[in-house]
Amino acid sequence: MAGNTSVRFPDRMFVDGDSVFASDRHRTPCFDPSTGESVGGAPRGSAADVDRAVDAATRAFYGEWRRWSPHDRAVVLLRLATTIDEHRDEIAALDTINMGRPYDRTLDDIRMAAEVFRYNAGAADKLEGTSVPISSEFVDFTELVPLGPTAHIVPWNFPFGMAVRSVAPALAAGCTVVLKPAEQTPFSAIRLAELAHEAGLPSGVLNVVTGMGAEAGAAFVGHHGIRGISFTGSRATGQLIMQTAAGRVTPLVLELGGKNPLVVFPDANLPDAISQSVEAAFDNTGQVCSAASRILLHDAIANEFIDRFAERCDGLTIGGAMQSPDLGPLAHASHFEKVSGYVDRAKKAHRLLYERAVHDMPDHGWFSPPAVFEVEDYSSELWRDEVFGPVVAVARFSNEKEALRLANDTEYGLVAGVFTSDVSRAYRFARSLETGSVWINGWSLGGFQAPTGGIKQSGFGKERGMAGLSHYTSIRNVAVRLVESIDDAEKE
Ligand code: NAI
Ligand code: MG
Repeated sequence: MAGNTSVRFPDRMFVDGDSVFASDRHRTPCFDPSTGESVGGAPRGSAADVDRAVDAATRAFYGEWRRWSPHDRAVVLLRLATTIDEHRDEIAALDTINMGRPYDRTLDDIRMAAEVFRYNAGAADKLEGTSVPISSEFVDFTELVPLGPTAHIVPWNFPFGMAVRSVAPALAAGCTVVLKPAEQTPFSAIRLAELAHEAGLPSGVLNVVTGMGAEAGAAFVGHHGIRGISFTGSRATGQLIMQTAAGRVTPLVLELGGKNPLVVFPDANLPDAISQSVEAAFDNTGQVCSAASRILLHDAIANEFIDRFAERCDGLTIGGAMQSPDLGPLAHASHFEKVSGYVDRAKKAHRLLYERAVHDMPDHGWFSPPAVFEVEDYSSELWRDEVFGPVVAVARFSNEKEALRLANDTEYGLVAGVFTSDVSRAYRFARSLETGSVWINGWSLGGFQAPTGGIKQSGFGKERGMAGLSHYTSIRNVAVRLVESIDDAEKE
């Protein structure tokens, strides 16, 4: 698919089985970051719209959805996966045009999203409890019970993939869903709800309210009808959500980004480590919670690594996202301002090792040149903050202990990677890293079957895999006292 003429940007959100405008008819504008041009807009939902959506999700949860067997839930989610496959080009175009992720990559994301539905559908009727051996006087067992209506607040960096990552397990577990996409990227979430309805999901089970975080998002978080919240986004917003959720003790899954170290030892396969690192740092133009934003290099290979890394960066194609370049633009204007600010300040504070030539950058849209800085001041913002753009901080180390200290020198704890051909070192190092995921000789390893999620200020709770599904159920324990022993029963 080329150009955006054949793609329809939905202009209504989806509540209780219907496409609706905001009750006050307000809208938020949306843009194509490859050009800066408008691509329409979506409803700016208010607290009143949130009430309607939560009411619908509550009625569906206590009504029809609860009567569906786990197997029937699986069947409809499998049908939705097929429907997503059939609309892959369209969904990918919506996200590519509206967010700026290269089209070929977005197609892969949508393919993956359909598989995520299949994975969770397959688990729906295998959410088994346990029987607990206590004594001959008791039968004790557990059941996994769906939480109820759940709110899912997702960011703009992978609009469809992030939505599906938490919505699929929630639905498989038997919860109902209200989904709030980021205000910048509302379209594919709306299509998800429309397609789910077409696939046979009952009205009210999956609702989408578009709009602002501080309005619709905050209203969901504080809503008395919401029994669980999944949030992916910034640490600052995660902290706000945690405070509000405390008011009703609503359980949370928080995925709050990272400042992820990629560590290269001299015994690594260097060409492989370099190509993996370029991808790790610049996939999605660095707008990835698990981007390699700190690259730690052993002194023995640092200069060679940097030279060859820079050569690779010069070869990256950069351009309009629908043309499937290696690097698209940043997702929106204010994010471009944020990243540019970091780069400008970094140029004053650190040694610039590499920056892509300005004349290689498209002259329209929100394109930010890949840049690499050497950092020696570990209190600097470039070392500490999640920049969320094509900007890498490089540091050097001379031994394993120093590498470990640098790697863990962050308030975040999402992912880390280590490149080495020494198996003992790989495991030893992996065990000492303070992150939720560790990748050895690669990056972004592990599929949707493997749990991911941070520690420290990267958040808590896991996404993906069976661990991701577990957040949408709670364990109910049922204990039965056997009033008579078998000998007493015999006497009658
Ligand atoms: P954000 O965390 O403010 O927004 C993410 C989602 O939360 C959006 O849907 C937004 O509407 C919603 N939201 C915002 N304020 C809210 C509130 N008070 N209550 C409920 N929901 C609310 O992220 P933002 O401002 O778009 O980006 C800022 C920075 O956050 C980025 O530069 C990046 O560093 C980080 N980020 C991290 C992501 C990750 O994958 N962990 C994804 C997106 C951003
Ligand atoms: Mg924000």
